[in-house]
Amino acid sequence: MPFSPMWKHAALVSAVCLAVSASDVVAAEAAVTAAIRVDLTQDKAPVSPDLYGIFLEEISHAFDGGIYAELIQNRSFEEGVLPPGMKLVRKKDGGLKMELESLPPGVPKGKWPMPWPWMMNCGWDPGRALIGWSLRLGGGAKGRMKLTEANPMNRASSRSLEMTVSSGSGGSGEVALVNSGYWGIDVRAGRPYAATFFLRTGTFGGDVSAVLEGKDGKVLARHDFGAVKPGEEWQKHSAVLKATGREPAGRFALVFRGQGKLQVDWVSLFPPTYKGRPNGLRPDLAKYLEELKPAFVRYPGGCYVEGLSFESAPDWRKMVCPPEQRPGMWGYWQYRSTDGFGYREFLQFCEDIGADAMYVAFAGMTVHPENNWPLDKIQPIVQQTLDAIEYAIGPVDSRWGGVRAKMGHPKPFPLKYIEIGNEHPPALYGDYYRTFRQAIKARYPQITVIMSMYWSGLNRGAIERAGHENIDIVDEHAYRPSGWARTHFDYFDKYKRTPWKVYLGEYAHHHGNGDFGAAMDDSVFLMMMERNGDLVKMASYAPLFCNVHKRNWGVNLIEFDAARSFAHASYYVQKVFNANRPDVNLATAVDVQPKPDPDAPLMAGRFGLGSWNTAVEFKDLRMFDPNGKLVYRDEFAGLEGWDTPARGRWQVRNGTLCQTDKGAGPTMILLKSPRLEWGKVTVKARRVGGREGFLMFFNAFGLDRFLFCNYGAAGNQFSAIQDRGQPEGAAFRGGMSTRGGIEMNRWYEIGLVLTRDKAEMFLDGKKVSDARAEYLPAFFATAGYDRTNKAVILKATNYHTGRVRADIELTGAGEVGQTGRHIVIRADKPTDENTLDQPDRIVPHETPLSGCAARFSVTLPRYSVNVLRIPAGLKCAGPAESRGRPPASAARPALVLPGHGTPAASFLRRTVFQCLSTRRHRLGRADFLRQVSTGRGEHR
Ligand code: AHR
Repeated sequence: MPFSPMWKHAALVSAVCLAVSASDVVAAEAAVTAAIRVDLTQDKAPVSPDLYGIFLEEISHAFDGGIYAELIQNRSFEEGVLPPGMKLVRKKDGGLKMELESLPPGVPKGKWPMPWPWMMNCGWDPGRALIGWSLRLGGGAKGRMKLTEANPMNRASSRSLEMTVSSGSGGSGEVALVNSGYWGIDVRAGRPYAATFFLRTGTFGGDVSAVLEGKDGKVLARHDFGAVKPGEEWQKHSAVLKATGREPAGRFALVFRGQGKLQVDWVSLFPPTYKGRPNGLRPDLAKYLEELKPAFVRYPGGCYVEGLSFESAPDWRKMVCPPEQRPGMWGYWQYRSTDGFGYREFLQFCEDIGADAMYVAFAGMTVHPENNWPLDKIQPIVQQTLDAIEYAIGPVDSRWGGVRAKMGHPKPFPLKYIEIGNEHPPALYGDYYRTFRQAIKARYPQITVIMSMYWSGLNRGAIERAGHENIDIVDEHAYRPSGWARTHFDYFDKYKRTPWKVYLGEYAHHHGNGDFGAAMDDSVFLMMMERNGDLVKMASYAPLFCNVHKRNWGVNLIEFDAARSFAHASYYVQKVFNANRPDVNLATAVDVQPKPDPDAPLMAGRFGLGSWNTAVEFKDLRMFDPNGKLVYRDEFAGLEGWDTPARGRWQVRNGTLCQTDKGAGPTMILLKSPRLEWGKVTVKARRVGGREGFLMFFNAFGLDRFLFCNYGAAGNQFSAIQDRGQPEGAAFRGGMSTRGGIEMNRWYEIGLVLTRDKAEMFLDGKKVSDARAEYLPAFFATAGYDRTNKAVILKATNYHTGRVRADIELTGAGEVGQTGRHIVIRADKPTDENTLDQPDRIVPHETPLSGCAARFSVTLPRYSVNVLRIPAGLKCAGPAESRGRPPASAARPALVLPGHGTPAASFLRRTVFQCLSTRRHRLGRADFLRQVSTGRGEHR
């Protein structure tokens, strides 16, 4: 039975857009126009010269196995060492987890309401202890390895590897201790690799060699150290291995021929590093950061600074000594860091790239909320922070300044900011911040002391406790769902101006793995910050780095494996925006035509049924129009009305639609027609096997983009309307959800009521969830003035499916030069991404911008982020000199575009990553999943 849709607007709009999809047609043909009036007589707030910074955290192997160039994983065999202050306990399922050994001194038992420690970051896999290492026996040799705590190499190294070697009869066999690196070692012909290791030969006598080899065992470099004799002392061995061949996923081996028992520790291998620094950084990754020209670098976390226990929180003093004397630290992100990229290397890197350093200090509050070091006992921790400052900038005759000088750096490092802790929700944190700030300001008034906020807005309780006048700047974290910036363009405009300023220490829009849709959103977010330059002084995207083999977080800026790397589109947005940062904002009015149709249904689309790891049956499907008239029914005599083959195992049996695959998710079958635009659907549903309940899809565009009613979500815990991607031109806003699962072998009636912008989900006639869609504006622009180069800088983002003609008017301009510059970052679709295999799919392109005048038009491609530089003088003298940092563009005439790619993650994986990474505090797993799935993690 055909459905007669009453609302055709959506189809009409996309037909119009399709008709004008070619990109280089003359401007006058564009269907959408944007009149942009820039008033050069009205300076608004200055754009902060420090706006564009970066944030480096040890997450997803960003440091070890990432920017820190060390190639050996688990080099000192410490991976299995329990973080101090934690103990192992057996879980019900037989596995192990960590718990705090005891409460902080002076803390009465029972005071802390949190069940500590919080679950996710306290898992423990004993198998990790030897991660990276294996033994290979050749030519009849015999050998064994085991970890030992006997005869430690130094105080930092509690463990080493004990090996038993026997070359066998004739002594021709060899025992190779192999390290696989961080999922491979990038071996390049001609490249020198500096190998170092320590041996305590014990009873062993024989030959030792170091080898770089291919996956197939082919030797690519080798150094023979010759014979070693038995002995009780630890001896250091070093050599440079020059590779003769190429292998992107190579291995390193120490090869032993002889007899006896010996100990091995601290096995290290370094390729040439960024700027040739010892114990330095991986050049391609460091280069990405250098080219961003960041004003500052935030380090080392994030959650990483919080510590699981007080004893295991980072202590910078253990990160400045020689690397083999650093004990390393088990981090929040479930692996151990060597702290090789330590405080000292961080400060050096800041100096190398001309950025200010921001050190995030442990605040005495661990990652477990309210598990705080008592405030009246906080002095030693405050002192630790004061010492960190002294190490960085203190005079050479001060205690720690002297240590810095002795280490070869008498000159102070560029430390400008200290942040106190990271994301501490309790209002009590305000007292901690105030205490730290007071102590820091007393000795270092020039240091900006940053107050950490929580997610999505301000921690007003903590701000009140600290007192407004006692705060320099607050660090608000903003992980936003796709499209958020489009509906919150005035977010910062509405902030009450107070004595303190705002720093967006962690921000990112989440879409795909960081696709072009997310980059467009980030561009709008940056425009929001630029145009509120009086308030928003600094920002840094998060997370910055991700090793594709250990992804703690869904969306990251730069990804890499052992040999390759690439930057997501958002990286190029930041790079181009920073290179074209105006000194001051100009009043800018934007009028986009045509205006959206207020009646267009926002969640119209195809309808379908399905399940997740569950066998289900459906019958008696009915669809009604908004007046309650039946417009479609299906008694499931056959599958002709449905798209087949569908995802899952679908068949009809006795008037019932059956999906029999219990192990697949999401299974999905889509109705050919009618589309569901506005009306109601009911269908009977029964779960007959598997773990969850039913799915009912709407606003579906193929198998990968849809909205859906999820009955028995997340292991049959709750029911809610969820999204996989956003409706075209609209933002999905999840609403209520209902706890409870779907019973086996029981027929339910499930239903969906859809209006222009609202969806309601029913179970046996009772509403269990709802959601809204909000129209998304699709064009944004801001403008400012670059005084040094006398140019109007106009930034514009076009989300339209077709190009937009921008009619630009510069009021109050003096002489306007004819030719400017147009830098564009664009994609064919918002879901396009750069990957390891396609690293340069989305990069900036620059063309001359001809025909500039006081009034002129320019075509902006569909799905594009644009920067227009229009040479224009001022009629009357503008505010005197340019201030602060010179625009990064001044020193950089052309864009240099690096790159390299990764396979796209599945929806499931994304959700899991979000779960793993999404916080955590005070939420049970179900609440947490509900928030993630309904997009309601915000509070402000
Ligand atoms: O950037 C990832 C994490 O998100 C950071 O560690 C933390 O500060 C935030 O919760």
